[in-house]
Amino acid sequence: MTAAPITIAVLASGRGSNLQALLDAIASGALDARIAGVFSDKPTCGAIAIARAHGLHAVAIRPRECTDRAAHDEALFSEIAAVQPDLIVCAGYMRIIGAAALRRFEGRMINIHPSLLPRYPGLDTHARALAAGDAEHGASVHAVIPELDAGPLLAQVRIPVLAGDDAETLSRRLLPREHALLVATARLFAQRRVQLHAGHALLDGHRLPAPLQLDAANHLIGA
Ligand code: GAR
Repeated sequence: MTAAPITIAVLASGRGSNLQALLDAIASGALDARIAGVFSDKPTCGAIAIARAHGLHAVAIRPRECTDRAAHDEALFSEIAAVQPDLIVCAGYMRIIGAAALRRFEGRMINIHPSLLPRYPGLDTHARALAAGDAEHGASVHAVIPELDAGPLLAQVRIPVLAGDDAETLSRRLLPREHALLVATARLFAQRRVQLHAGHALLDGHRLPAPLQLDAANHLIGA
């Protein structure tokens, strides 16, 4: 008997290209999963529009509709709990998630971040990599913990910084690599090969000594 596809809840605040990459991978058969819902703090964002266009369950709650940060988390994450996701993917969700919401979904939440963590947590990652004179830049997928962009690293993709790059060209070149990274990492969850713990990630029951690296053929080396 084959296992049912995993269910994924996507949290997003922006244009939704990572959500679209997951949907494309599911449609092509490259990812055996089902998107159970898309959740946002921004009702007019691209990700919510994409969700609606695909007939997906879409829920957006503005922070100002809630009394405080904790109440917003509680409202949004109660909506997420209702779809019983196996995995929550933060794909450009630009709010800090409080500890109570994280505890509720411990071990089930990942984030894609546009830098080679632990370098450049937070915002403006492309400009900061350029300002530091880095020869390479990239993106990371990690488990979400209360400290911002600091959870155990699962996988990364690297791109060279080219002469003449600015933040715009660098982010434009990185984005399709981010999409491939997110799909490849989600596939490991779909295959039920990953377990997330507070301080580390397990692949096939073994602690990952270092984040997996995506190669040019979109395979995670060593996975
Ligand atoms: C992506 O580049 C993602 O890595 C970044 O937001 C963008 C969302 O794009 N996430 C963060 O900066 C999280 N700290 P998308 O809406 O097109 O998927």
